[in-house]
Amino acid sequence: MQVYQEKKQIKAEIEQLKSKQITIGFVPTMGALHQGHLTLVKEALGNNDKVVVSIFVNPTQFNNTTDLEKYPRTLNSDVVLLETVSKNDILVYAPTVEDIYEGNTVSQNFDFDGLEQEMEGKFRPGHFNGVGTVVKRLFEIVKPDKAYFGKKDFQQLAIIKKMVDKYQIPVNIVGCKIHRETNGLAMSSRNTRLTKEQKEAAPFIYKTLITAKRQFGTKSANKVIHWVGKQFANHEVLKLEYFIIADAETLKPIKRKSNKKAYRAFIAVFADDIRLIDNIALN
Ligand code: PAF
Repeated sequence: MQVYQEKKQIKAEIEQLKSKQITIGFVPTMGALHQGHLTLVKEALGNNDKVVVSIFVNPTQFNNTTDLEKYPRTLNSDVVLLETVSKNDILVYAPTVEDIYEGNTVSQNFDFDGLEQEMEGKFRPGHFNGVGTVVKRLFEIVKPDKAYFGKKDFQQLAIIKKMVDKYQIPVNIVGCKIHRETNGLAMSSRNTRLTKEQKEAAPFIYKTLITAKRQFGTKSANKVIHWVGKQFANHEVLKLEYFIIADAETLKPIKRKSNKKAYRAFIAVFADDIRLIDNIALN
């Protein structure tokens, strides 16, 4: 499998492929790949001739330096894992910070029509400017026909769709369902950092979401929010950062339930310094 470290090289290769009408799918990642990523790659391979997987821990989207330092970096085993999916049709782009930022490691300021101000935007200031900056650059380099993002980062997916629309970037954004462990825990690169005790506790997050969804059928949003707060109040391992029920389109917190709207519940939880997020469709 070819691993490209420089944009100059991968751009030349992609230009060649495009001149032969070969379609390009794109799966941007920060590495530490797991089955969830592989599902995205398989879906991309099903709908495109070649797939580019980028592996880049993007410094500008981290608002916490410890989180950035501790983020797992496992390029060699990532490549081995990708080879189990396809040896010939995947191109890996694993650039350096210099290759992406050219000596100016700062984010562009975006206006995503308010989507960036909710949830992750509130708790991780600057995060979505960093995500927008790197994804826009990666799109300019890879020029994919389709790009694949998981719904675990539902707000990120909404923001990328908004960015593509606003900047008229010619790429189709495909949202893919959340991949879970058999115990319900949403797959995440950060899961590799969980201790045994934290791993055993973490499925509680999804279990709580499922019950919240059931309750939302008959109870007010406030009652559900209160109930979720209580579940975590005295939890020995998991600390709730937020639980929000929001309009699935605007991502604004629910005011009054309406049958005409789609709602989603979003949660962020800490296990020590490891931050886990998840979400679920409510109706
Ligand atoms: O979801 C991620 O892994 C990252 O936010 C992304 C989209 C690769 C940008 O760095």
